[in-house]
Amino acid sequence: MRTLLILGAGGFGREVASWAGRATWQGEAFDLAGFIDDHPVTSELNGRPVMSLAQAAARHPGAMVVAAVGNPRSRERLIARAADVGLLPAPPLVHPNVEYDREYVQFGEGSVVCAGTILTVNIVVGAHAQINLDCTVGHDAVIGEYATLSPGVHISGNVTLEPYTFFGTGAVTVNGLPGQPLTIGAGAVVGAGAVVTRNVPSEVTVTGVPARARETS
Ligand SMILES: CC(C)(COP(=O)(O)OP(=O)(O)OC[C@H]1O[C@@H](n2cnc3c(N)ncnc32)[C@H](O)[C@@H]1OP(=O)(O)O)[C@@H](O)C(=O)NCCC(=O)NCCS
Repeated sequence: MRTLLILGAGGFGREVASWAGRATWQGEAFDLAGFIDDHPVTSELNGRPVMSLAQAAARHPGAMVVAAVGNPRSRERLIARAADVGLLPAPPLVHPNVEYDREYVQFGEGSVVCAGTILTVNIVVGAHAQINLDCTVGHDAVIGEYATLSPGVHISGNVTLEPYTFFGTGAVTVNGLPGQPLTIGAGAVVGAGAVVTRNVPSEVTVTGVPARARETS
């Protein structure tokens, strides 16, 4: 069994904790040892200990970590700080009822995929990407590293999400074309409920139907 610690003791951390013990990767289960939170307001959460990073490294040397916060850049910072104290990324943490093609879907280390999600074929999910409840990802999609899909996001076929993209709840994309993917640029934010019909430039926030860039004041 792999000893696993969850970085972040917020709502999403508790959600992941509720099923992590039932997940397996390549036949091996995870032994959830608790949460890591820099400013713990309690020493125990839902029956599991909450530790500072230093406490976790001392109590569980060599344990694996997964970051359970929605913001892509925060997740990257947490993973980097954990690595500094010898806590390295876990293998992909995939809810047992997630449907995907075992041969033609790849998951990077530290990625998290929640219940009800379906990924079809020829999909690459980057390291530390987070795919929340009830999402669908179609054929020939790339979910970049540290990308976040909130609950109920639908990514159509031939779509590329560059690293650090964030999709709010219920956002969707239309499909791209073979060899000409619809591309969401690195660090772009797609608001809840948006319908993306065109490429989105890097670091831009879009909302609405069809999704348009928000005016900056
Ligand atoms: C798009 C988003 C990032 C903008 O955040 P923000 O810059 O803080 O925006 P504000 O909340 O200040 O809202 C500014 C205006 O945009 C509107 N707005 C906010 N989000 C919107 C959305 N997704 N679609 C359309 N309009 C939106 C607000 O109603 C507000 O309008 P008003 O000025 O007429 O009152 C955010 O609203 C969003 O959609 N985040 C996703 C959250 C989410 O799904 N989380 C998942 C948790 S699991």
